[in-house]
Amino acid sequence: MNTVVSGIRSTGNLHLGNYFGAIKNFLQMQNDNNCFFFIADWHSLTTHPTPADLHVNVKQVLSEYLACGIDPEKATIYVQSDVPEIPELYLLMNMNSYLGELERTTSFKDKARKSPENVNAGLLTYPVLMAVDILIHKAQYVPVGKDQEQNLEMARKFAKRFNNIYGSETFPIPKSYSFTGESVKLPGLDGAGKMGKSEGNAIGLVEDPKSIRKKVMKAVTDSGPTQMNQEKPEVIQNIFSLMDVVSPKDTYDFFNNKYNNCEIRYGDLKKQLAEDIINFTSPIRERFLDIYQNEAYLRKVTQEGAEKARESAAKTLAEVRHLIGFRKF
Ligand code: TRP
Repeated sequence: MNTVVSGIRSTGNLHLGNYFGAIKNFLQMQNDNNCFFFIADWHSLTTHPTPADLHVNVKQVLSEYLACGIDPEKATIYVQSDVPEIPELYLLMNMNSYLGELERTTSFKDKARKSPENVNAGLLTYPVLMAVDILIHKAQYVPVGKDQEQNLEMARKFAKRFNNIYGSETFPIPKSYSFTGESVKLPGLDGAGKMGKSEGNAIGLVEDPKSIRKKVMKAVTDSGPTQMNQEKPEVIQNIFSLMDVVSPKDTYDFFNNKYNNCEIRYGDLKKQLAEDIINFTSPIRERFLDIYQNEAYLRKVTQEGAEKARESAAKTLAEVRHLIGFRKF
C-alpha cells in the first residue's frame, strides 16, 4: 500500500472548484492508500493571522473536509501543529537547504514581490517545511496541483540530498499522484477563467442557498445563439461546464438541445443550475453545520489523528537522528 500525504491550506473556505479538482479524488484515494491529510496551520503563519482567525480557520476547513466525506476511519486526519516531530525534522533539514535555491523558487519570488514588507524567514523556508510534511511519513505520493509542482520538486531534492549525505535510503523520492478519475477544472461564472477564491467568483461548498442563487443568477451571458448548433462562447460554455458536473445528464441534454435549437432562455438555464448546485451542496452543508458545532467530535478526530501521525513521524525522526549522529550515551 502506498503512503500519500496532502497538506490542506487553512485559509479560505472550500468551493465547488476545490471539490471537483481535488477532494473528489481524495475520497477515492483514501480507499486504497495509506493517506495522511493534515491542516497546514504552521504554513499559514507566514501571513500572520490573528489568534482568533487561526483557530476558526482550522476548525472551518477541518469541518468542511469531514463534511465532504474525508473519513478518519480510512485516512489519518490531523492538524500539523499537533505533531512536534515536524519542527524537529524541519530544523534538521534546514541545515542542508540553501539560501540560493530557496530564493529562486517562484512562489517565494511572487510572495516577496506582492508583500515586500513581509519577506519573513518562514516564507523563505516554506518549501523545507512542506518537504518535511511529506518526508516525515516517507510518502511515495503527493497529490499536487500545478501551483505546488515546484515545492514537490524541492521535496525531492531535499530527500535525495539527505539520502546522499548519509548514504541511506531513508526517504523515498515522492512522486506526484495522478488521479485515476478525471480532475475537472471548473470555470467561474464571471467569464474570467477558473473558479478560485482569489478570483472572487467561487461558489462555496457550504454556502447558503440564497447566496448561491444570487451568484448564479448574476452569471455573465450573451445575447443568445443566432445559428443552429453554433459553438458556445466561453461565458456560456462555463455555465454548461458547471451543469455538466452538478446536474443530471438529461437536464444537461435538455438545455444543450435548447441552445442548439436557438430556443434557450438563459434565465431558465441559470435557475436550473442554481437548484442543481444547491442539491449537490446541501448534504455537504448540512453535515458541515452538524460537525462544526460538535466540539467533542472534532476533539476526538484531531486527537486520534495526531496520535497516528505522531507514531509515524516519531519512527522516521528516530532513524534520522541516529543517522545524523545524535546518539544516546
Ligand atoms: N503548500 C500547499 C498549498 O499551498 C499545502 C501543503 C503544505 C502541502 N504542506 C504540504 C501539500 C505537503 C502537499 C504536501 O496548497
